[in-house]
Amino acid sequence: MNRKYRKVIIAGNWKMNKLASDVRPFLQELRGAMPKAKTCDTVICAPAVLATSITRTMRDTRIVCGAQDVSEHDFGAYTGEISASMLADIEVRYCIVGHSERRQYHNETDFQVSAKVKKLLSAGVTPIICVGESLLQREYGLTFDYVTYQTKAALSGLEAKDVRKCVIAYEPIWAIGTGKTATAIQAQEVCAKIRTVIRDNFDARTARSVSILYGGSMNSKNCAELLAQPDIDGGLIGGSSLDPAELAKIIESTVDFE
Ligand code: PGA
Repeated sequence: MNRKYRKVIIAGNWKMNKLASDVRPFLQELRGAMPKAKTCDTVICAPAVLATSITRTMRDTRIVCGAQDVSEHDFGAYTGEISASMLADIEVRYCIVGHSERRQYHNETDFQVSAKVKKLLSAGVTPIICVGESLLQREYGLTFDYVTYQTKAALSGLEAKDVRKCVIAYEPIWAIGTGKTATAIQAQEVCAKIRTVIRDNFDARTARSVSILYGGSMNSKNCAELLAQPDIDGGLIGGSSLDPAELAKIIESTVDFE
């Protein structure tokens, strides 16, 4: 990580876990276990029904609420959808876009990812754009090509000043929820590639200022080595974000990096 140029972010992805009654006890325990020193921006990306409870409980703390998806439309007859302005209205500050589970189970396309990014930016919510290859793509040597394509598609049509407001999460699909983490070297080389893609398509200043997170079985044991890499600026954490003590340890590990 490189604190000089960019934010360090630890974002929990609760996925479809936890109930409203879990929010208070979880956040109280997390706050109690968190280091006192300024560490990183901490985000809890929760199901939207829990967002109000999280923002209320976390008011005046360093923890903010994120969402896990957003509509590509502004408003209207889209049953079941939640718009970017609705998220902003309840103080949701970040939103995951293009998570591989949404691409896989909901057939979300790169075109939709790009539309969602634009809606979030105009509502003032920070997109956390997920990219990452499957095991087959890695085995065929397509990792860089695929991640380049996803990154370019998600950022297409944006100006550099808007790209600087985005966060990218590199999440190799084969590492998500499997207990198989990418090695620090594997994760670093793809995160560095993403930064090069941003530089080539926008400019060096933009590439330097975008936070790039790693996600995929990150936990309190492997986080230090991953976070020590120069192009990994934090983590998007699924399973390990469900336990407040474990999440606090990951947050604490960012203290060691200046
Ligand atoms: P995991 O999930 O940490 O459980 O692998 C990460 C994610 O899907 O964001």
